[in-house]
Amino acid sequence: MNFKDKNILVIGGSSGIGLATVNQLIAAGASVYNLSRSPSESWSNAVTHLQYDVLGDLSSLAAELPDQLHGLVYSVGSINLKPFNRLTEEDFLHDYQLNVMGAIKVIQQALKSLKAAKSSSIVLISTVAVKTGMSFHASIASAKGAVEGLALSLASEFVAQGIRVNVVAPSLTETPLAMALLGTPEKKEASAKRHPMGRYGKPEDLSSAISYLLSDDSSWVTGQVLGVDGGMGNLK
Ligand SMILES: NC(=O)c1ccc[n+]([C@@H]2O[C@H](COP(=O)([O-])OP(=O)(O)OC[C@H]3O[C@@H](n4cnc5c(N)ncnc54)[C@H](OP(=O)(O)O)[C@@H]3O)[C@@H](O)[C@H]2O)c1
Repeated sequence: MNFKDKNILVIGGSSGIGLATVNQLIAAGASVYNLSRSPSESWSNAVTHLQYDVLGDLSSLAAELPDQLHGLVYSVGSINLKPFNRLTEEDFLHDYQLNVMGAIKVIQQALKSLKAAKSSSIVLISTVAVKTGMSFHASIASAKGAVEGLALSLASEFVAQGIRVNVVAPSLTETPLAMALLGTPEKKEASAKRHPMGRYGKPEDLSSAISYLLSDDSSWVTGQVLGVDGGMGNLK
């Protein structure tokens, strides 16, 4: 994949799946803009850091973006797993704000630049738990279900403007966000065994799929939800 002369905005590129995506895009020649609360020490100088909290005011973001944006990936999210009767209204609203409203606010700010590129791609991140019912996932699965609905609506609305919109839906992936679930050798072994392919995900499993969907290699792909999940979504 070649990202030479492409400007890509990564939201949440300082850690985990977003960080692996930044590294892959830089290696493929992209100019990367990252939005997060703090920068990563492992970035090369090629990354332009935009310091924002997606839960806050993003109204000045558009002015900091390049005139043309060829891609946007929203890699911010949460894993807030609790029995349904312990989930509060605040839990549900927080997951919605972080996973859905954050993406909406960033896309609204980036839309002018995405349109100006004539051909561009948005990638949002869901979870395998939207299509595979999992206990304790009521809050995150309902927020990510909204992410998938948002993506399909925008894919339709933006198709005439040359903006593609797709989703990747990971299963458990070894990132700082997932440490509570993968923090001990026993948890790692049990999590690997739960997957039909016998292992949990690595950030690079996801960044490869995200980079494909951002690239011109997927120029005829829009409105799709791509499971990147070691078989968890579709296999028994
Ligand atoms: N890991 C998994 O097992 C898994 C499974 C299914 C789905 N997912 C989804 O995959 C995506 C990436 O997750 P990850 O595991 O890579 O998470 P991660 O390692 O925690 O990285 C999250 C990124 O988002 C940024 N971020 C968090 N809160 C933010 C805020 N309020 N404002 C701005 N930036 C913020 C963080 O940077 P700062 O802290 O510097 O702001 C960081 O760069 C998420 O959508 C997640 O729901 C992950």
